[in-house]
Amino acid sequence: MNSVRVFAPATVANMGCGFDIMGMTLDGVGDVLSVVVEDGDGLEIVNRSNVELPDDKEKNVITPAVRALMEAYGQKRMVRVVVEKKISPGSGIGSSAASSAAAVYALNVALGRPFSDEQLVEFAMEGEKLISGGTPHADNVGPSLLGGVVLLRGYEPLDIVRLPVPDNFCCSVVHPAIMVSTRMAREVLPKDIPLRTAVKQWGNVAGLVAGLALKDVNLVGRAMRDVVVEPYRKQFIPGFDALREKVMAAGALAFNISGAGPSVFALSADMDVAARVGEIMRQHFAEQEIASDVYVCKVSNRGARVME
Ligand code: HSE
Repeated sequence: MNSVRVFAPATVANMGCGFDIMGMTLDGVGDVLSVVVEDGDGLEIVNRSNVELPDDKEKNVITPAVRALMEAYGQKRMVRVVVEKKISPGSGIGSSAASSAAAVYALNVALGRPFSDEQLVEFAMEGEKLISGGTPHADNVGPSLLGGVVLLRGYEPLDIVRLPVPDNFCCSVVHPAIMVSTRMAREVLPKDIPLRTAVKQWGNVAGLVAGLALKDVNLVGRAMRDVVVEPYRKQFIPGFDALREKVMAAGALAFNISGAGPSVFALSADMDVAARVGEIMRQHFAEQEIASDVYVCKVSNRGARVME
């Protein structure tokens, strides 16, 4: 019998303009789960965390991720997963992705590491497919497994690029206690966009990648603008435009929805500004009687890992 206990971090997908193709790793917040592999055949998921998860394992993102890995492994095993600590579902900081990432990471270790990190990303993406209404994407599972800032240059085949992060890349992330499902946040998006809008967006994506590669945090800030997705999703976040004005006036370089929301994040060039911005975000939601969790941190270069 092999038991492995793993932490997989929370993540900010999209990074503003990079819908479905970019994501970054947060520090100190994430999921913890353990996996036991025994002789036999099957999958059991036990929830010992303080958040509610679906009783039906077919609705849990861990199930398709584990099945994809076991299918590639080609041998039958009984896999028992215990979810110990869980970011609230529908948070916008990669709550489902952290679970699938942690599960495949732990299972791979328990089986003697037959798969590469890139293969683990492909397995974990199956969980994202389940909750997003059919589109597998890796902008949360990629950074949760690998750490740092991850670019998905292409999906067919999967082409993962890890990007450098400027030292003064400081994030403030707020998770208000409201629920926005990824499926709903994807359903409101248009299927086609005008060429003029696309030109603006790919200019920003190019600027974002260039800013990271050149370690120019001001260029990153100018480029972190989303003209494709945000106009349709900001309706789910109370006072979104007003909050942007407040955090930009306080010195932030950019302000965007984190993943599918309702979390939002701001980029600042130093930790003092990031801390001030975090407090403004907390106050903004408190004024509307919405509790929130605020994280002020740099991007972590550490992805999923075994806990001692
Ligand atoms: N890129 C995804 C989205 C992240 O914005 O819908 C959430 O899974």
